[in-house]
Amino acid sequence: MAGLAHADSGFSLTRRLWPWRDTRIFIIQNPMQKFTLSKAVFPVAGLGTRFLPATKAQPKEMMPIVDKPLIQYAVEEAHAAGIRHMIFVTGRSKRAIEDHFDTAYELENELEMAEKHELLALVRSVRPDNMNFSYVRQPRSLGLGHAVLCAEHLVGNEPFAVLLADDLMVGPPGGLSVMAQMAAQFERLQQSILAVQEVPLEQTRRYGIVAGEVISPGLIKVHKIVEKPAPEAAPSRMGVAGRYILTPAIFGHIRRQATGVGGEIQLTDGISSLLSEETVYALQYQGKRYDCGSKEGFLEATVELALQHPEVGQHFRQYLNGLKLG
Ligand code: G1P
Repeated sequence: MAGLAHADSGFSLTRRLWPWRDTRIFIIQNPMQKFTLSKAVFPVAGLGTRFLPATKAQPKEMMPIVDKPLIQYAVEEAHAAGIRHMIFVTGRSKRAIEDHFDTAYELENELEMAEKHELLALVRSVRPDNMNFSYVRQPRSLGLGHAVLCAEHLVGNEPFAVLLADDLMVGPPGGLSVMAQMAAQFERLQQSILAVQEVPLEQTRRYGIVAGEVISPGLIKVHKIVEKPAPEAAPSRMGVAGRYILTPAIFGHIRRQATGVGGEIQLTDGISSLLSEETVYALQYQGKRYDCGSKEGFLEATVELALQHPEVGQHFRQYLNGLKLG
């Protein structure tokens, strides 16, 4: 019997003799392997010149909308999408971002001694235990594509999200955050996905613009993407908002890019090149985008989020109602 059992189990015998063999074959022959997003890249090395002098000595990503810095909104959005490893591409004078997501030992100690438990919990909630943070520097401002490339060794060979903290994204009331909407699509499609919104024709110069075919409500198969075209050259009015899910193939394409618009290595050009190898989708997300890289957008976000704020919202509404706006 023992001999028979042996003869029958040729597969297990092979596995016993060359245990690595089955594993290897499994990886190579498994094109159906499903990826779940676990990493997000936050390019935060930009100088924030549009907000000078406020950004002379502090990162623009640390500017608060009501009581929370812009970068924290973006990290919370990624966290709500199930992402747990946050990778920051930083630069000189961006130390405050690292400190923000670190333990604030003295502050926590003081709050503990003073028994200010609510504040202590608030401070600690910025860095939940189940999150990892990594930092890499972008030594020179060579563009968004270059910033993403700086994170390659931390991302490795898996899909990842990119969130531009300048774009504050608010999901629909009671609905999913924008990155969570994208992650849900990614679970199904397993391909790169860009967040898009319709923009006024005269503003195409501010965005990556995509053109493609609508394959289901809100979902576009991208045929073309151009960085900041003039209105007369824009292939559509679908502008890319600062949220991306990208496959690791993007790195090779960025590496091969010459400088593009503004003399910078553009992520958009890398995505355009990726189209020759893989399918890329664009998702018309549900929710609202505030362009907090501009003063107008920053003020709009401040007013609207203040109105919804549980602590100050009601008072602020009364205050605004009482203003005699000419
Ligand atoms: C970047 C991208 C652009 C995208 C925009 C979204 O531009 O290059 O394609 O549409 O973010 O905010 P930036 O605003 O950094 O100039």
